[in-house]
Amino acid sequence: MPSLPTLSGLPGLAVLRAMGRDRSLLAGLAAMRQHLGNAFQITLPGFKPIVFVGPETNRHILVTGRDDFLWRTESDPVTKLLRHGLLVEDGESHDCLRGVMEPTLQRAQVNGHIDAFWECTTTVTDGWTDGDTVDMLVEMRKAALLILMETLFAVDFRPDLERLWRPILASIEYISPGAWLVWPGAPRASRKAELAELDDYLYTIIRERRASCAETGQTGDDLLSVLVAHPAMDDDLIRDQLLTMLIAGHDTSTALLAWALFMLGVHPDALAQATAEARAVLGPAPPTPEQLKELSFLDTVIKETLRLYPPIHVGNRRAGHDTEVEGYPVPQDNRVMYSIYLSHRDPEHWEQPDDFCPARFDRSEKGGTPPAFAYVPFGGGPRNCIGATFAQVEAKAVLGKILYDFDLELLPGRVHEHMGATLEPRPGVKMRVWRSRKS
Ligand code: HEM
Repeated sequence: MPSLPTLSGLPGLAVLRAMGRDRSLLAGLAAMRQHLGNAFQITLPGFKPIVFVGPETNRHILVTGRDDFLWRTESDPVTKLLRHGLLVEDGESHDCLRGVMEPTLQRAQVNGHIDAFWECTTTVTDGWTDGDTVDMLVEMRKAALLILMETLFAVDFRPDLERLWRPILASIEYISPGAWLVWPGAPRASRKAELAELDDYLYTIIRERRASCAETGQTGDDLLSVLVAHPAMDDDLIRDQLLTMLIAGHDTSTALLAWALFMLGVHPDALAQATAEARAVLGPAPPTPEQLKELSFLDTVIKETLRLYPPIHVGNRRAGHDTEVEGYPVPQDNRVMYSIYLSHRDPEHWEQPDDFCPARFDRSEKGGTPPAFAYVPFGGGPRNCIGATFAQVEAKAVLGKILYDFDLELLPGRVHEHMGATLEPRPGVKMRVWRSRKS
């Protein structure tokens, strides 16, 4: 078996230089791939993940060798926070939870949420006045949170948005990569009070839903109601699923929406085309699923944004036993990462990989469909993103609504890729907004 390349000597310096220049760990990873190839090992004290890039190894980790890898690592903050949430469970427990939740996220259910996607966006944009400068990273988080609570939990989150803003951000910071990666016992800022406030809220909505279901004898078809009605789910297990969906389901969408607006902002031609399309296809009332399908240019913008800035830029696993990936040895318990970000920029599979080019996803043009497993913004195989359909319909509805209602202008300023729980445009996406004459 070939041994895994690691960094040393001159390539090591080149990687450090790239990280310093771009102030980004991702730039370091990209430089490592350039020097070491599509499989390599990071060898920091206490942190030695094996990183794989490209369709063959993605397919291996996600599908063919799926059973060799585990998600759960007890010492990781994400496991401590989500406890027994779908995202951090393995084996039968994972598959059972997935079976319970998946029906609430099928396309038919998602299409039933389009009105809510539209109305929640309006709630946010009602606060914008002509000539305002807004930070789309903040505004899109508001929209994504209102949407998630309204659709999956059937809860009106407007009265609680402000109060729970800090606790939600604290939960995201808690699981973001940091010193704990190299030093699991590293002292960390205590977020006890904020996390307890969020828990308190989640347990309250669970209790209230149990009471209202018992009183009316009726069960809704939203996720919270389905969980409450399930005989094997106690309040703790439901809290774990709600927190999982709350974080996985809104922080990712926030990043996608903010990056998409940023990409439109730096490409005025694309902004003009997406705006013209939204105004030709949409009207003042919430759109039908067919209308959203007609937003074919916006669709390519969303796909291209997910290629360049995948909100989940890396998939994390732990080897369940000694194994191998496409000929490379992987010892038991070693952390394994499949890099979505680097796969999406692999010059072997993408022409001019760093360029924003929505046309590469245009089905009417040559190409149109990337090679299988070269494009994995939602992962793949049985553990792919449970909210993939939800996220894509949501993105089209929210962006379509904004483009229909507003003329946008990106303000100058450096934006960098921040590796938090998701890949975010930091320090934010500042845009000037004017209500369009059509809305
Ligand atoms: C742009 C938006 C989104 C992106 C890019 C995204 C990306 C991903 C990726 C890459 C994975 C697989 C990670 C892995 O293999 O380790 C995943 C899993 C997951 N996602 Fe998403 N996601 C998005 C939106 C959502 C939404 C809206 C929800 C909930 C409504 C959601 C809930 C989850 C959950 C619960 C899992 C774990 C599934 C399992 O282990 O069975 N995500 N997501």
